[in-house]
Amino acid sequence: MPAELPGAADAAIRIRDVRKVFTTGGREVKALDGIDLDIAEGEFVCLLGPSGCGKSTLLNAIAGFSPPTAGTIVAGGRPVTAPGPDRAMVFQEYALFPWMTVEKNVAFGLEMKGASRAQIRERVDALLAKLNLRDFRDRFPKDLSGGMRQRVAIARVLAIDSPMLLMDEPFGALDALTRRNLQDELLRIWAELRKTIVFVTHGIEESIYLADRVVVMTYRPGTVKRDLRITLPRPRDPASPEFNDVKREISRLVMEEQLRHEQAEAAATAD
Ligand SMILES: Nc1ncnc2c1ncn2[C@@H]1O[C@H](COP(=O)(O)OP(=O)(O)OP(=O)(O)O)[C@@H](O)[C@H]1O
Ligand SMILES: [Mg+2]
Repeated sequence: MPAELPGAADAAIRIRDVRKVFTTGGREVKALDGIDLDIAEGEFVCLLGPSGCGKSTLLNAIAGFSPPTAGTIVAGGRPVTAPGPDRAMVFQEYALFPWMTVEKNVAFGLEMKGASRAQIRERVDALLAKLNLRDFRDRFPKDLSGGMRQRVAIARVLAIDSPMLLMDEPFGALDALTRRNLQDELLRIWAELRKTIVFVTHGIEESIYLADRVVVMTYRPGTVKRDLRITLPRPRDPASPEFNDVKREISRLVMEEQLRHEQAEAAATAD
């Protein structure tokens, strides 16, 4: 048995010795190996690492979309065996229904839950206001900017009121200014609603700006290279010397793994 990690008793998400192997065309890819991680209730954790290090694989395992090959994941005290309403996922490519208006997209989860019309109306109004979407309620996703669409995706997930939000590079496709706006909004919502957030990114600055903890992953197999607590007070200033000290340390760790990635690719091409 692995030793109990600090805070494990009240962990919202407890990951033990998780391994994931993909087999494609007779070849095995060891995507994750020996992942042990505890995420406390209300904590904001970023999974950080270069492309291909297994961030999405780990998030999908927590979500219950793709079970690990070995090991266990417990969320909210229950073993994860399938997706559940306690764990809401936000993807990079705004997973909205293109045939529904903004309002209908946000209302969808509540309708599925069988909420009353009055409840739905009240909740949707509040969320549209919270995410500055009130003037866009009758628009369709195709008529919105990327930032707006991602706001709708967040409003949609908040409507279901899951205690855990799993976010896979949700702001990756946005320009820098829109990204910063949405980061600030997410922090505001997190501070207000105290959700547990697992946020995947390959943005070093983004992870330090957002997270209580940054979990740096190794490149293939994905393991926990370093689990760093970010103690900088919020709101954080990316231009401050303290921020840059953290950034320097994390950049070094990520660069090591990026280099291993490039070397592995070069070796694979040479084969
Ligand atoms: N369904 C799959 N079948 C086969 N291999 C897969 C599958 N999904 C992921 N992999 C492999 O597992 C490894 C980890 O992939 P994953 O998508 O989790 O990485 P990532 O860290 O999310 O990368 P990115 O930053 O590019 O999104 C990669 O080598 C990838 O090719
Ligand atoms: Mg990914």
